[in-house]
Amino acid sequence: MDMTISQLDPAFQKDVFRCFEEQAYAIPARWLYDRRGSELFEQITELPEYYPTRTETALLENYSEKIAEISGARRAVVEFGSGSSTKTPLLLREMQPAAYVPIDISGEFLAASAAQLQKQFPQLPIYPLEADFMRRLNLPHEVADMPKLGFFPGSTIGNMIARTSVDLLRFMRETLGVGSQLLIGFDRIKDVDVLVDAYDDSAGVTAEFSLNLLHRINREMDGNIPVDQFRHIAIWNDLYARIEIYLEAMSDVTFAIGGNQYNMEKGQRLHIENSHKYGLRDARLMLRAGGWSPLREWSDERDYFSLVLAEAHPHKNAP
Ligand code: AVI
Repeated sequence: MDMTISQLDPAFQKDVFRCFEEQAYAIPARWLYDRRGSELFEQITELPEYYPTRTETALLENYSEKIAEISGARRAVVEFGSGSSTKTPLLLREMQPAAYVPIDISGEFLAASAAQLQKQFPQLPIYPLEADFMRRLNLPHEVADMPKLGFFPGSTIGNMIARTSVDLLRFMRETLGVGSQLLIGFDRIKDVDVLVDAYDDSAGVTAEFSLNLLHRINREMDGNIPVDQFRHIAIWNDLYARIEIYLEAMSDVTFAIGGNQYNMEKGQRLHIENSHKYGLRDARLMLRAGGWSPLREWSDERDYFSLVLAEAHPHKNAP
């Protein structure tokens, strides 16, 4: 197993030490995605309970043609956090794009998925960009003069708290420029049982995905956290309209990480992820707060998931 990159990640170690030293018991969700975590997430997307991926894929299958018609041909499609780019061909097929810019923090993932897409679209200029998209970016100079369509599927925005989401949308506007468009996926508020089951599946894959974070700490930071003494919990927080994911200690535990000793009491919880869900107009308001004017929205017949197309209009004076 290749762990050379993540093993040396000082930001991960800093976040983990801060969590246990300050007893703040929260670890940023992005650390769930080491190689094993990414594999488990791929498995999650195929679970019967996890509706978002298949619902959004169906929306792209049904509406990409319409999206292309509204958006117009010859745009550079810029995908934020492209990962394995599995949904991208559905859009690219209809868009007649002038170029494709996948952005991902993992160079390894990026190279593999760009190569894969190049096979499917041999004529399409592809300019992969290895970067953290949570800040303003300089796009490859080759696309500087092209109109752009940002693509941010998966309701990944839901893993951020509201303030961070709005910051990200503003960065995207700065990165893509006025006149650009953005196609973004939002997971919708729905029946609580459906939501909880999607994050606590009967096969236990999501639990394994969460618990892998503790395994990762043990693997990469010389830890001995008794992982079997923790359980995965998914709770709906109605006030914040989000699923919250915790790892709860099932007994009093003592463990070491990097030579330091820590204790957690039975019932104490480590907060490892939020997944926000959006009401009909919440997503549009969030987009507007980030400088994007909604143009059109598509949802499935159960309103489980929405795709919104928005545009970065020039700022006008407001009353
Ligand atoms: C990546 N992200 C949009 C997923 C979600 O639905 O919030 C992550 C996830 N965590 C557990 N299951 C899925």
